[in-house]
Amino acid sequence: MKIYLATRNKNKIREVSHILKSESNVLEIFSPDEIGGMPEVEETENNFLGNARLKVQALRAIAPRGVWIVSDDSGLEVDALNGAPGVYSARYAGLNVTAEENNAKLLREMEAVPDDKRSARFVCCAVLLEPSGVEKVFRDACEGVITRAPAGDQGFGYDPIFIPEGFNNTIAELGPDKKDRLSHRARAMKELAFWLKYTQNAFGAGV
Ligand code: IMP
Repeated sequence: MKIYLATRNKNKIREVSHILKSESNVLEIFSPDEIGGMPEVEETENNFLGNARLKVQALRAIAPRGVWIVSDDSGLEVDALNGAPGVYSARYAGLNVTAEENNAKLLREMEAVPDDKRSARFVCCAVLLEPSGVEKVFRDACEGVITRAPAGDQGFGYDPIFIPEGFNNTIAELGPDKKDRLSHRARAMKELAFWLKYTQNAFGAGV
C-alpha cells in the first residue's frame, strides 16, 4: 500500500518509512517528489491539527486522484515556557534558521529554570487523507525533559536537547532505532498503521 507523506523534510520521510516498515512491509511511504514535489505551505494555523490539515490538502491539490496521503505536523511543548515553541518549533529563533539556533534560543530561555521544572513533550499530529477525501487524525506525544546543553549528533531539530522519560540520554544520542520506537511520531504512526490494518483490511485477508 502506497502512502505519500506531505512534507519536504527528508528526516520525517526517513523516520516514517522506518516506523511503518517495522509495522508491516505492506505499507510504503513515498516522497511528494515522485508526484511533482511538495507545494509550499504557509503554516497559518495556531495548532498542530490545523497545520497538518493544510499540508495534506496542499499535496492533495496536485496529487493524482485516488492516492493515500499522510501529513505530520509536530513540535516541542515546554511547560516552563507555557507550551512554547509549540507550532512555532521550526521557526522559534526566526525564519530560515538552523536547528542549532533554535536549540540555543530555547536553552537561553530555560537558563533560570531548575532541573525539576524542565518537563516538555514532543507532539505529533498526523492526518491521513483517504482517496475518498475523508480525513482521519492520529495524535500522540513523547514526554521528557530539556537538558542544559546539546548532546549527540543523530536525529534532527530539538533531538540533542531532549531526554525522553525513562532514559538518561538525549534522542540525538540514543539514535534512530530507539527513537523510532519511542518518539511522538512513532506512537502516532503506529496508531495509523493499526487503524489501516483493522479498519481498511489494508494488509490483505487473514493478516
Ligand atoms: P513542522 O515541519 O512544521 O512539523 O515543524 C516541525 C518542527 O518541530 C521541526 O522543524 C523541529 O524543529 C521540531 N520537531 C518535530 N519533530 C521533531 C523530532 O522528531 N525531533 C526534533 N525536533 C522535532
